[in-house]
Amino acid sequence: MANDAVFDVLVIGSGAAGLTLALCVADHCKVGVVSKAQIDSGSTNWAQGGIAAVLSATDSFDSHVQDTLVAGGGLCDLDAVRFTVEEGPAAIQWLIDQGMLFDTTKKGPYHLTREGGHSHRRVIHSKDATGKAVQHTLDDQARAHPNITVLENYVAVDLVNRDADGVRGRCRGAYLYDIEESRVKVFGAKATVIATGGASRVYLYSSNPDGSTGDGIAMAWRAGCRVANLEFNQFHPTCLYHPEARTFLITEAVRGEGGKLLLPNGERFMKRFDPRGELAPRDIVARAIDHEMKRLGIECVYLDISHKKKSFIKEHFPNIYKQCKKYGIDISKEPIPVVPAAHHTCGGVMVDHRGRTDIDDLYCIGEASYTGLHGANRLASNSLLECIVYATAAAEDILERLDTLPAPPDLKAWDESRVTNSDEEVVVSHNWDELRRTMWNYVGIVRTDKRLRRAQRRVDLLLAEIQEYYGNFRVTPDLLELRNLVTVADLIVRSAASRKESRGLHYTLDYPEPAPDPVPTVLSPE
Ligand code: FAD
Ligand code: SIN
Repeated sequence: MANDAVFDVLVIGSGAAGLTLALCVADHCKVGVVSKAQIDSGSTNWAQGGIAAVLSATDSFDSHVQDTLVAGGGLCDLDAVRFTVEEGPAAIQWLIDQGMLFDTTKKGPYHLTREGGHSHRRVIHSKDATGKAVQHTLDDQARAHPNITVLENYVAVDLVNRDADGVRGRCRGAYLYDIEESRVKVFGAKATVIATGGASRVYLYSSNPDGSTGDGIAMAWRAGCRVANLEFNQFHPTCLYHPEARTFLITEAVRGEGGKLLLPNGERFMKRFDPRGELAPRDIVARAIDHEMKRLGIECVYLDISHKKKSFIKEHFPNIYKQCKKYGIDISKEPIPVVPAAHHTCGGVMVDHRGRTDIDDLYCIGEASYTGLHGANRLASNSLLECIVYATAAAEDILERLDTLPAPPDLKAWDESRVTNSDEEVVVSHNWDELRRTMWNYVGIVRTDKRLRRAQRRVDLLLAEIQEYYGNFRVTPDLLELRNLVTVADLIVRSAASRKESRGLHYTLDYPEPAPDPVPTVLSPE
């Protein structure tokens, strides 16, 4: 029994949430930041539009709160919304202090763009690649900090929070699979933080990078944490539709700056669904596109910004211009073929305003968490904001408690005595594909009880098969992700089946109307 490493704070995840927390505590303690691939492999690096915050004299906290509540379809936690919105300007200032360069205008300090559901221009950004700028600003700071150890290519397997008899207690660290050495190590910590991002890769088509497999949500669930609102997976309305393009998003800011959604015959159709047209909240736009695609039997719709000057397009959307050009689409001359794809996990591990979970000394922040901010549908560009605000709050809480937290004991080493090398890797790839197709076909933008029952039957089978496989064979990164995905799929289907109404991102033909007194869907492990 000997820990492979010990930190004061072990942060699992190196996106906006994880790195912010690490940087906020690192002057006072030793921090390990873990990423299952390179440091910038999470969704943060892919974020395009920007970060929502009240930064203009004509805007107000009340207005940002109101827009968030409206998008959230009556299920947001008002305290969480107020807290996040009011901390917004400080969060942006903190990023600027780290060296983040946001776009400026000639007239005012910062250029603010607009996205669906926002009644004001309030999205601060760095061209159309805000996430890359945030990620690299924070990466540079973290790598330069003497108290932060960045551990790339370590996949967290499970949290350590049980004694020899299996009784749950405080979190003491985590088991991490070291990809280079192909073995599981045990890391101890006074405080452990889940910052592992979302689970949108549970769907066949997604805007997310490969690693969005809900690992942190599944680990927290296995450890004994409650999860909430997992039926609300957001589908982004406009991902590039092209046979060679895997998961490339066309930012909502294109619509914010005047982009129009068109059918193949050139008809502008959004006003038929919502008076706000292309700037209606995302759930409405994604559902309208899905409806038109099914009605007409078409494979995509079109997003047209070609009426704007080429210089404007290249100035505001250089990344999208370049990427589309690569696929033979000149967005200054022709419309962009687009389809909806799974984009954001609005629910997650239940936390309070300090990121505390149900387990002592275990925190959860960023997209893996459920803070109550997003309700039934996330307002565009509120999630990077949530990452920074809650990471900062959790960091403060950890620092206040650090001296009182016990050092982790020697933890039990990973036991491989009863497993062998896999004899049939195809089980993993086959089940992976089946799971993601099942979720796409039966638990997608439009649901029914019958589809959910079908999905549950298949997920149950996959759960049993994957659990058996996990019990018999040595772990690999693919197996670990699959095990987590099937757990999250099960939680999503169960949450969706229990919501007998349509609200926000959860739309079911069997209950098309909202119920009078909505409450979040909370699932508790036994
Ligand atoms: P991530 O940035 O996803 O980071 C997760 C980290 O956890 C990674 O480092 C990963 O390696 C690590 N990890 C995961 N599992 C494990 C494991 N088992 N072991 C070890 N490490 C693990 N939001 C906005 O507010 N504005 C936008 O403009 C915007 N645009 C977006 C565009 C795209 C294409 C996408 C995909 C998302 C966008 N979002 C946007 C959403 C936003 O980017 C994410 O919600 C946010 O970045 C999540 O940050 P995070 O720190 O929680 O997780
Ligand atoms: C986008 O740029 O459209 C994505 C914004 C978000 O997901 O918040």
